[in-house]
Amino acid sequence: MLNEKPYMDSTHTSQPNPNINDLVSKVKDLPPLPNIVSRAMEIAHDPNGSVRELQILIAKDQALSAKILRIVNSAMYALRREVSTVSHAVSVLGIDTVFSVIMAASVENVFQSAKSLGTKLLSEHSWGTAIAARAISKRVQYEKPEEALVCGLMHDIGKPILMQNYRDRYNEIANDVYRGMTSFHQSELMAFGFSHAHVGALLARKWNFPPQLAEAVGYHHNPITAPRFRKLACIVSLANSLMISMEIGFQKDKNLKVSELPAAEELKLSKPALDTIANETKSAIEATSKMGN
Ligand SMILES: [Fe+2]
Ligand SMILES: [Fe+2]
Repeated sequence: MLNEKPYMDSTHTSQPNPNINDLVSKVKDLPPLPNIVSRAMEIAHDPNGSVRELQILIAKDQALSAKILRIVNSAMYALRREVSTVSHAVSVLGIDTVFSVIMAASVENVFQSAKSLGTKLLSEHSWGTAIAARAISKRVQYEKPEEALVCGLMHDIGKPILMQNYRDRYNEIANDVYRGMTSFHQSELMAFGFSHAHVGALLARKWNFPPQLAEAVGYHHNPITAPRFRKLACIVSLANSLMISMEIGFQKDKNLKVSELPAAEELKLSKPALDTIANETKSAIEATSKMGN
């Protein structure tokens, strides 16, 4: 599996395309996928897998159950009544959505376990990107908005992993970004020959997440060059740019003209449409953070 061609590109650099075997040897500290998530994936992908089986599995893990209920009850799903049990969540949202929420919960674990690199900022930025990606998907009629949500949440997951693997060098990079001198993507490419986007794609593959997720994460800084799943890559990239323009996260640029980015053009999203999405996202983030998400 890991010998396949990686979901990567090198458009913005003179560095050669990173080789996946090389990357595996350089980024040794990749977090494992929790057992419960791999079991849930088996059930979700099994044509004979039942909703009941999934409910029983999740109910066994209290931490996961709590996380799922928190996500499901967040403003993102706009449910009329609060959902208080996992079985109810599964029956209300359906197996596919709950499965996306399980993936989201496992991605969130990685942020929480990396106690560095402004974990709170990164987590806010990632949740914001997830909410915006879901809103953009609905606007452009992407058929799987939950998939876009997981991609949004996961897009920068390579950052805490790089921090764990290259602490000193990465601290320097983070300082430069914080002072507005460079971007993570550019300086990582200069320092390592690959970026957090590539590491995120590697993790998505290691976790056996669907190939479109790996590609969208791997190309979120160059979405137009994504070979197979360009629409999803553009959605995630645009959601990330919206967060930068709304100053949510480490990198801030309120002058960024999101509607002029190639991804906005590709998705045919005008400035008024993007403004509406930004407002919807802002309200959803505010409502969600009131619930402690
Ligand atoms: Fe990124
Ligand atoms: Fe980002």
